[in-house]
Amino acid sequence: MQLVPIRRDLDFGIDRIDRDLAGRWHPRGFPVSHFYNALSLFFPEGERFFIHSVRHFRERIEDPELKAAITAFIGQEAMHGREHDQYNDLIRQAGLPADALERYISTLLGWLKAHLGPSTQLSVTLALEHFTAMLAHLLLSEPGLLDGAEPKLRALWRWHAAEETEHKAVAFDVYQAAVGRGAVAYTLRSGAFAIVMPLFLAHVLAFQAQLLRADPKRPRGMRQWLEFGRFLGGRRGMLRQMIRPGLDYFRPGFHPWDQNNRALIEAVDELAATYSRPTAPIRRAA
Ligand SMILES: [Fe+2]
Ligand SMILES: [Fe+2]
Repeated sequence: MQLVPIRRDLDFGIDRIDRDLAGRWHPRGFPVSHFYNALSLFFPEGERFFIHSVRHFRERIEDPELKAAITAFIGQEAMHGREHDQYNDLIRQAGLPADALERYISTLLGWLKAHLGPSTQLSVTLALEHFTAMLAHLLLSEPGLLDGAEPKLRALWRWHAAEETEHKAVAFDVYQAAVGRGAVAYTLRSGAFAIVMPLFLAHVLAFQAQLLRADPKRPRGMRQWLEFGRFLGGRRGMLRQMIRPGLDYFRPGFHPWDQNNRALIEAVDELAATYSRPTAPIRRAA
């Protein structure tokens, strides 16, 4: 049975955060803060790309529950884009090169839209949705990744993570319904993941490096870099904990809900109670 996500219109007040905090909103230091910032720069354009690639197949979907899930998926990703636009404004206002990096992403994704067929575009979306689902699981279950962070940004990341968990199978189900489940569909989706993941991570790290280089407040010395190394590769590190679920994606019978982590979605209820816009009540998307 399809889990139909809920579109929530929340406002975290990111525009009220002191721009001085842009590079040090995370207690584990500048490199960690700018790693998250680099990810955020990808989201608005990236999520518009996800919407574009899923929408292309909407008319071919007959299952009414999956159709409803697509509508909610589009609504959620649009909201994520809007809030991350505000987040990215904070990076911009801190004097960091958000504009140039966002322009680069826009050009890159524009190229993909112009040169890849719809099924391949959807396979790229699937790969990145699996990455965001793995990231989301960790952000909601691994305290060391967000605890002690600036409360509004911590709330934004947790809300995004809960909704990414909630809709983690929507693009995948569209892919299975529209592209198929056979050998060709498997080769395309696993090949896309194998190519997209290293390229995406290399881009995020390159963006992080540019943000750090442009940040006059960053400290010198190795201490924060050692902490960043632990943040990514330590025993409870983010990337280290993605290896197993990442490899799982290559199983021919893989489905995102093989890992049943629905309980993590409940984190969003408390956030919705605190950050809902008064004029826009939470509603189940049609
Ligand atoms: Fe999203
Ligand atoms: Fe998503």
